[in-house]
Amino acid sequence: MKFFIDTANLSDIKEAQDMGILDGVTTNPSLMAKEGVSGHDNVIKHYQAICDIVDGDVSAEVIATDFEGMVKEGEALAELDDKIVVKIPMIKDGIKAIRYFTDRGIKTNCTLVFSAGQALLAAKAGATYVSPFIGRLDDISTDGMGLIDTIRLIYDNYGYETEILAASVRHPMHIIQCAELGADVMTGPLSAINALLKHPLTDSGLATFLADHSKANS
Ligand code: E4P
Repeated sequence: MKFFIDTANLSDIKEAQDMGILDGVTTNPSLMAKEGVSGHDNVIKHYQAICDIVDGDVSAEVIATDFEGMVKEGEALAELDDKIVVKIPMIKDGIKAIRYFTDRGIKTNCTLVFSAGQALLAAKAGATYVSPFIGRLDDISTDGMGLIDTIRLIYDNYGYETEILAASVRHPMHIIQCAELGADVMTGPLSAINALLKHPLTDSGLATFLADHSKANS
């Protein structure tokens, strides 16, 4: 399973990249705003800075919600760097835009997906990635993981090549369950990735090894 980090924070992206486990980055307008990135030129510079850090796909979301606007914005974003994946919302014009980009060899990420029907449409339009938001489904007492399972079944039934990018991951168990269910990619915060490192027996075992080594060598 590929690991993407879901942030626009350059220091978090660098930390995950330096760990050697990062396959890509996803951003969205809220994450850019959280980092205080505003204005067209600054947003473009920020995407370039992210592309300079990471080896892998970088999702950059369009703001337009009409077909022509999404095409214009998406083409400009795709020209920035080969790593850029144009992130497009799951709306009717978005599906048209995904088809447009697919036909021209430009990578897309269909975002804000909350149902199997939406994921089926994204695959039919040829999206590179589909992003079901599991955490936000869990937030409203709906089974986010169940959606990953259903999309996996549907895509495997027909051999769709669209990769399932489990998004809105909140904690390490989400990551483990995504891997169990066969999500192609998960995107989550650095905190969820770092939490995978943790086990009390690792900490106590290491402390004992170091203490024994120190005694034997004193
Ligand atoms: C996906 O690409 C989105 O950026 C993201 O995963 C949304 O996560 P949230 O529900 O934690 O905001």
